[in-house]
Amino acid sequence: MPDTTTPMRTIEWDYENNTIIMIDQTLLPREYKIIACNTIDSLCEAIKSLRVRGAPALGAAGGFGVALGAFRSNASSLDDLLEDIQTAGENITATRPTAVNLSWGVKRVIRAVEDARNIKEARMFALDEAKAIADEDVEKNMQLGEHGAVLLEDGDTVMTHCNAGRLACVDWGTALGVIRSARAQGKDIKVISCETRPLNQGSRITTWELMEDRIPVTLITDSMSGAVMRKGMVDKVIVGADRITQDAVFNKIGTYTHSVIAKEHRIPFYVAAPVSTFDFEHLEDEIEIELRKPEELKFFGSHQIAPLDVEVYNPAFDATPMENVTALITENGVFYPPFLIDEVKIEI
Ligand code: MRU
Repeated sequence: MPDTTTPMRTIEWDYENNTIIMIDQTLLPREYKIIACNTIDSLCEAIKSLRVRGAPALGAAGGFGVALGAFRSNASSLDDLLEDIQTAGENITATRPTAVNLSWGVKRVIRAVEDARNIKEARMFALDEAKAIADEDVEKNMQLGEHGAVLLEDGDTVMTHCNAGRLACVDWGTALGVIRSARAQGKDIKVISCETRPLNQGSRITTWELMEDRIPVTLITDSMSGAVMRKGMVDKVIVGADRITQDAVFNKIGTYTHSVIAKEHRIPFYVAAPVSTFDFEHLEDEIEIELRKPEELKFFGSHQIAPLDVEVYNPAFDATPMENVTALITENGVFYPPFLIDEVKIEI
């Protein structure tokens, strides 16, 4: 296990032990702890319980997961190994249905292994491809950040939802990456972070990572976004995305509400996401939105906050129609409506 006192990427491969290591995000901000996933089961558990989360980080988790499947397989023939990898990929993909990056990462690494001539080569190809996904993620987020930073002016206050920062990616971040890049250019940017109920990625993770970087951040509840926008406290809204179809942006539940309020107050509403998050082959209605356990709403930690037998609806994400989106910020540039597949340069 590497040194746990120095900041690392959100998710990495441990070359010494051939396992996946990651920051356990369920413990933040109370504890910064690095955990290892030695098996596909432990990786699936980590994804389901949001130890690793955020679309781009899930892309890397999917890729490293297939590599882990290759290293843990006891197969004695290449065909059996490929079958084991396929099963591992299916199990990983089934953990969370909405963020398209997860299945994208899995598929990309499985494809890379197809040309392998033996087991050793298959393991090497899988790991190299997974590592490439992780490295590219950082590079693309920094490019995305540079493109998006142009949209921010010195003195702006940006509202964001959930966590689309370095902890949702391998590093740097998408929505928070734009803010990091703007600050690196010397612009004074402040952030308003919505707490993001029910799992509080905004209050637990976004505020933590921004404070680590000494970026000024103010925490509000999700229901305060209307009031702060009406009061003129927000210059721009920037969120990330879990999947972008032809007609909608899927992101953490609550995003749609912010987009409607931003539109009402003529505040630009930007979506920052790498091309790997685009799924222009599909429309909103074809996408499954992950439904999470009722307990997430009935308990706050171990504290009961609702009658145990109350009916609960707990979708993890919502869809924001494209007409509410001012621009899409990607590593290939900033795109304004109409969002055309050839312009965004998406490979499908
Ligand atoms: O349920 P989560 O925490 O995985 O949801 C994450 C989000 O909704 C993020 O905003 C999205 O993945 C973009 S991350 C750059």
